[in-house]
Amino acid sequence: MVRELSGHEIDALHYELLVKDIIAAAERLPPFPDIAWKIVSLVKSMAPVRQIEELIALDPTIAAKVLRMGNSAYYGRQYGVRTVREAILLLGDKRLLQVVVAACATLYYGPGNSADERELWEHSVNTALLSEIIARRIQHGAILSLYTASLLHDIGKTVLNLYARIYLHSSLHEIRGESDRVQAERRTLGIDHQELGGIISRNWKFPPDIVSAIEHHHKPEKATKYEEISSIVYIADTLALYFCKQNDRAHDKTIDPESDPVFKQFGITLKMVEDFRNELKVGMADVAKALGSV
Ligand SMILES: [Fe+2]
Ligand SMILES: [Fe+2]
Repeated sequence: MVRELSGHEIDALHYELLVKDIIAAAERLPPFPDIAWKIVSLVKSMAPVRQIEELIALDPTIAAKVLRMGNSAYYGRQYGVRTVREAILLLGDKRLLQVVVAACATLYYGPGNSADERELWEHSVNTALLSEIIARRIQHGAILSLYTASLLHDIGKTVLNLYARIYLHSSLHEIRGESDRVQAERRTLGIDHQELGGIISRNWKFPPDIVSAIEHHHKPEKATKYEEISSIVYIADTLALYFCKQNDRAHDKTIDPESDPVFKQFGITLKMVEDFRNELKVGMADVAKALGSV
């Protein structure tokens, strides 16, 4: 005799199929462009500018974005950068690699799409620049890994947001209202954006420290390895959200670095948080703008 499934069992089955479907969608994302790592390795090996220029010229999207950054207010529009070579020389290694990674990331999400995506992109750029500011302050050396992990830390949301829109019939407001977003995602969709980000970045063959930071950016203490990079991305992410809420006058949320063990671990005080805010909003406003629109 065939036993009928209970309502609870049917729900569990739907849930399992939904999670499988979400993971399959994450695995179908196109690979992260190889050219990014080729440029990174040329720059790191101090290859001649001509070689870097030739490689960048193979990708018109990256070339256009390098030129745009070269002509941003930050780098002095007065130079009137006309060629990729001039832009490479003007930007210097660090900013060049940042533009290349940002240009590749815009294949998956970016400034030119829906309001949700634009907001996510701006948050990602702010998190990436904050991780650079924090790394400089605490003298952490792996700035490019931190920048890449921070820029892509919420990549899992690009897939999850789509499913939330379909299954929750809302543009994520239901999940956003929750204080613990990761928990809310797991409860409603069976998987969270950290875990999905880990699956995506592992598929892209990212270095393990970057994968770990993406996978643990809300709970860095859960990272069994590479806890430091995960913790810095956590701090940058927390501050990017906080500064954004500070700009929203209706929001009176304050931050207390003394009560957060991750902030404490790096000796980050309220005064330092204010310095980071000023550096992001004043010192890096044009870089944020130029990267934000690449
Ligand atoms: Fe996140
Ligand atoms: Fe985030």
